[in-house]
Amino acid sequence: MAVQFDYIAKKGWKPDLNKYLVTLLKVELDEKAVKEARYSHSKKNYSLIKLKKELFQEAAATVAAESSTGTWTKVYDGKESGIPLAHKIRALVFDLDYKKQMFKVAYPLELFELNNISGLLAGIVGNIAGMKMVSAMRVYDVYFPKKMIEQFPGPRYGISGLRRLLKKPKGCLVATVPKPKIGRTDGEQASLAEVLFTSGKGTYEGIKDDENLLSLPFNNFYKRCKMVLSEAKKAEKKTGNKKFYLCNTTHSDLNEMLKRAKYIKQNGGIFMMMDVVTTGFAAVDTIRRNNPGLAIHAHRAMHGFLTRDNSPGVHGMGKLYGFSVSMIVLAKLFRLLGVDSLHGGSPLAKMEDYGEAKYIQQVLQEKSLKPHDKIPTLGQDWQHIKPVWMTASGGIHPGDFETVLDSLGEDIILQCGGGLLGHPDGVEAGVIAIEEARTIYEQGVPLRQFVKDNPESPLARAVEHWGYGPKIVY
Ligand code: 3PG
Ligand code: MG
Repeated sequence: MAVQFDYIAKKGWKPDLNKYLVTLLKVELDEKAVKEARYSHSKKNYSLIKLKKELFQEAAATVAAESSTGTWTKVYDGKESGIPLAHKIRALVFDLDYKKQMFKVAYPLELFELNNISGLLAGIVGNIAGMKMVSAMRVYDVYFPKKMIEQFPGPRYGISGLRRLLKKPKGCLVATVPKPKIGRTDGEQASLAEVLFTSGKGTYEGIKDDENLLSLPFNNFYKRCKMVLSEAKKAEKKTGNKKFYLCNTTHSDLNEMLKRAKYIKQNGGIFMMMDVVTTGFAAVDTIRRNNPGLAIHAHRAMHGFLTRDNSPGVHGMGKLYGFSVSMIVLAKLFRLLGVDSLHGGSPLAKMEDYGEAKYIQQVLQEKSLKPHDKIPTLGQDWQHIKPVWMTASGGIHPGDFETVLDSLGEDIILQCGGGLLGHPDGVEAGVIAIEEARTIYEQGVPLRQFVKDNPESPLARAVEHWGYGPKIVY
């Protein structure tokens, strides 16, 4: 591709992070494109190394061009063409790593409408994945400058705000995603909520709708919302402990989502749930700014189609196979837009070899985030944006609590669907097993020790059933 300007910065150039937004990417040159270039007249005397170096530079420059002011060919540059300004505010590639085929792109802020995330993404990751000369690309991270961060409110409550609402100054929160995902009626869901909220010592805090439980003929959103919240209120009186319900408002009609949010509020709820990938960035922004004062729980259904990358090169070295955007980028976007809790993976998952779930927790919670030492990242200064609850969910059971809490810390919501409702002695035993797992963790009692000393306990029974390791989620 012949780009009109030089989109590669001079060697050693670094952007002023107050004036530029930065992205971090890796590309894989397409073998066919390399072959074609080898036989091209202008490059026939090149060594393969020199050729690949040049093609990599061209690919990086094309990313910068296409995502800022350029296109695939030289265009009219006469009077009133906009070319002088397009040149001045073009994006620049820097920090090229020829070995890893990685590079950064710095975008001057003049390129963006600072409070528009959908617009920003249309630029920085908009068209670049269509480029023919690369066979794979991953966007690892984005660094937001202060001026952009200032445009967003971030979470309304965040970690400390939610702790205040729940009168829970420390410790993790526990919640259940009822299984079967779909099957219970609205009334049955409310009866289950009563059991969860009041069994054992009555300390169980939360219930969450599954992602595909919306408003169905036998389980209507409005009925379920009213009945479950009424059980939560009753249980609060009975147990003296605050409860929450992550009520799924997800809908493709934003007006309906706002209507559902209002209904949660009218019925005394404090939390709403939305699927943030399927509803989109505009929905998260709109809901954050217009919902009636609820905390937002963000589920990330569908994210795997964007973030999952099984290539050997996913953490820098090695070959990339596909096109993806990391969960780190998504987590940053959702923290900026203002969710209060976000599903961020589990430290027991595959990527944990590199500490990805742990790093996502830091992305969500630290004020001055440093780059990771193994995962390609940029860090972030979060300014006024509050920290977000990390949610660990998917295949978790009481035998995992110690590992998950050791790794992610206490500002997490631990969710067990199957890991509670699949307890061999029933739902109440499932609640007690989780209460026990949390209590002994807070008391500093090792899980294995407790299980050895209390072989008849619901926690020991859970461990007997599921063991200590993670369960594969299909
Ligand atoms: C979720 O929505 O978080 C999952 O459905 C949790 O279910 P699991 O604990 O049974 O994996
Ligand atoms: Mg689910």
